[in-house]
Amino acid sequence: MAEKEIITLITGANKGIGFATAEGLGKLGQHILVGARDAKRGQNAVEKLQAEGYKATFIQLDVTNKAQIQNAADEIKQKFGYLSVLVNNAGITLGHHTKASEMSTDEIRKIFDVNFFGLLDVTQAMVPLLKKGRPAKIVNVSSDMGSLGLATDPQSRFYRISSVGYQASKAAANFATIDFSKELSASDIIVNAVNPGATNTEFGGRPKGLKIPGMNSVEAGAAQIVKMASLPFDEKVTGTFTENVGTLPW
Ligand SMILES: NC(=O)c1ccc[n+]([C@@H]2O[C@H](COP(=O)([O-])OP(=O)(O)OC[C@H]3O[C@@H](n4cnc5c(N)ncnc54)[C@H](OP(=O)(O)O)[C@@H]3O)[C@@H](O)[C@H]2O)c1
Repeated sequence: MAEKEIITLITGANKGIGFATAEGLGKLGQHILVGARDAKRGQNAVEKLQAEGYKATFIQLDVTNKAQIQNAADEIKQKFGYLSVLVNNAGITLGHHTKASEMSTDEIRKIFDVNFFGLLDVTQAMVPLLKKGRPAKIVNVSSDMGSLGLATDPQSRFYRISSVGYQASKAAANFATIDFSKELSASDIIVNAVNPGATNTEFGGRPKGLKIPGMNSVEAGAAQIVKMASLPFDEKVTGTFTENVGTLPW
């Protein structure tokens, strides 16, 4: 019997770590659904992936737009009937490294709309398709900056970092990972969080092409996401928070 094609939706896949993840998983033969809020940027990414020999399809997906999320789920259902892997990668930060006493709560709400509520809305909409595609996987792209353990450890460099909106949004995404991993375990869907580590992308408005020494390449930033999104289905690893070099404290 022919093996079922692995259908993988990646949010924010048009650039940065999301695009590198698409390349990494495309190389493994997965059919990549390139979630992007901007149609032109998304189509360009699809064309690049196809030119590299990978299977890729564009899916319009602004994770803050519930109607678009539902349309995306309907389109996936109609074209493929199921989903095998969901990578919740889309993320933003605003007012990065502003003191908690000065951070605008309007900006914090905007961060949460993408990094937490967007992740929840997309996941909730895709769970029925993942159940049809099971055994299936969800990988939530988190951050070491969302680790409560690191932020409260005086020996950690994260002890001295304050960026309350982004940190809290990723800690919240981690909690969603824990809760979904427990709920979906009986449905043969594993759910894990991954930290790409500081990675050379345009994240937070860094100028295009700027390479900060000591930061990961996009391929290195995507490596653990690719690993967790392509684990053999019989390795039921769920409810973890990992990075390239091991496990992180929640
Ligand atoms: N880079 C780092 O140092 C680092 C470290 C730890 C964790 N992370 C996490 O890694 C993930 C990817 O970040 P990155 O470094 O690759 O950043 P990036 O280059 O800025 O890419 C972010 C992606 O998210 C998309 N996005 C933003 N808002 C969206 C929305 N409302 N709906 C759909 N897509 C949206 C962007 O689309 P547009 O092109 O349309 O803006 C882009 O495709 C994020 O979750 C981030 O928190 C990054």
